[in-house]
Amino acid sequence: MVNFDYQNPTRIIFGKDTENETGRLASGYAEKVLLHYGGGSIKKTGLYDRVTASLKDAGLEVFELSGVKPNPRLSLVREGIKICREKQIDLILAVGGGSVIDSAKAIGVGADYDGDVWDFYTGKAEPQGSTPVATILTIPAAGSESSQGSVITNEDGGLKRPCNSLYMYPVFSILNPELAYTLPEYQIACGTTDIMAHMIERYFTNVKNVELTDRLLEGAMRNIIHHAPRLLQDSKNYATWAEVMWTGTVAHNNMLDTGRIGDWGSHDIEHELSGMYDIAHGAGLAIIIPAWMKYVHNHDLNRFVQFATLVWSAEMDFNEPAKTALEGIYRLEAHFKRMGMKTRLSEVGITADTYEAMADKATDGDTKTLGNFVKLDKAALMEIFSLAE
Ligand code: NZQ
Ligand code: ZN
Repeated sequence: MVNFDYQNPTRIIFGKDTENETGRLASGYAEKVLLHYGGGSIKKTGLYDRVTASLKDAGLEVFELSGVKPNPRLSLVREGIKICREKQIDLILAVGGGSVIDSAKAIGVGADYDGDVWDFYTGKAEPQGSTPVATILTIPAAGSESSQGSVITNEDGGLKRPCNSLYMYPVFSILNPELAYTLPEYQIACGTTDIMAHMIERYFTNVKNVELTDRLLEGAMRNIIHHAPRLLQDSKNYATWAEVMWTGTVAHNNMLDTGRIGDWGSHDIEHELSGMYDIAHGAGLAIIIPAWMKYVHNHDLNRFVQFATLVWSAEMDFNEPAKTALEGIYRLEAHFKRMGMKTRLSEVGITADTYEAMADKATDGDTKTLGNFVKLDKAALMEIFSLAE
């Protein structure tokens, strides 16, 4: 195990009807709230009415900024920063999924900074504070509700880039599994793919003696493999959503990577797919992760055998362990397909003529590598794209 410094300060309020607590909780932080949301799903479901009523009952002044798109855009973040400054907002309430929450986090750190918020996403500067952000989660997926990350797309150049900062943890997050009942099948599939991806990125590590977190990750992955397909049969099952929603949060709140060094190469590659083709994050991961696994599995065959046997209950082939390792990868790919995900670049319209541009963008013209389990250069990325063709 490597040394670690772990604290997750986000307060979680979990369960039925918890969104009605929003006003009471928010009044602990604010008099003026910026309500931030996406393309309107929260209006269709009635959540918007319940949340605004709760905020107003608590005597809070509410301003609004809607229109966050999946793969949230820098231009809207800039609009939000302007509103925060003009109206002296003291809490940003994100109601939605990872895109809305990430946009709110960017607004929060940007409102507290004299320079351009994009500096935080290029590494030119680090956040030194933030207007507090709180969330009401409507889709279990990104884990942003209690993560220290935000991923924003700069329309100028199609650059999708992450920023991680201790200032980006939401102060509180409301998780009511019932709010996910209205999700379309495609979003259920994308969301649960992302949850699996967050655990896979952590599982494939070179750090030895991490057995507690290995067992926790294996158990949490099995929980998603068991429950995610059930949501496609019954999308209004509270018990199933509760399992998936809580696993999605725990998958990305950093508890499961204490003492480990995760990989994150597949996430970095996926950001190029989303940045250039505007595809859903989970959709890109379902394509990249199996190809990445095929490319790297010989680096630590034992770990892939462990993944196959303990996560997928594959039978051990003692004569040919490589076969067992590959079986785990095939079962993961089959799971994604069963969820309705595409697992090939060609199936989502990404053709070989853009592989080189994506590999160049991801590696800054082959000057940096991606991932920790295996360091990936431009040539490695080209191989992975070919395996995913
Ligand atoms: O915009 P609205 O109308 O709300 O519709 C959304 C959106 O179209 C819809 N939706 C959400 N909840 C719904 C619903 N529709 C019906 N009923 C509901 N209850 O779903 C669509 C997708 O929403 P989005 O927020 O984009 O999904 P997700 O939560 O998967 O977030 C993806 C973003 O998070 C980033 C990704 O890169 C991507 O940009 N990530 C953020 C991370 C972080 N901050 O820690 C880590 C992740 O690895 C990820 O990179
Ligand atoms: Zn992710």
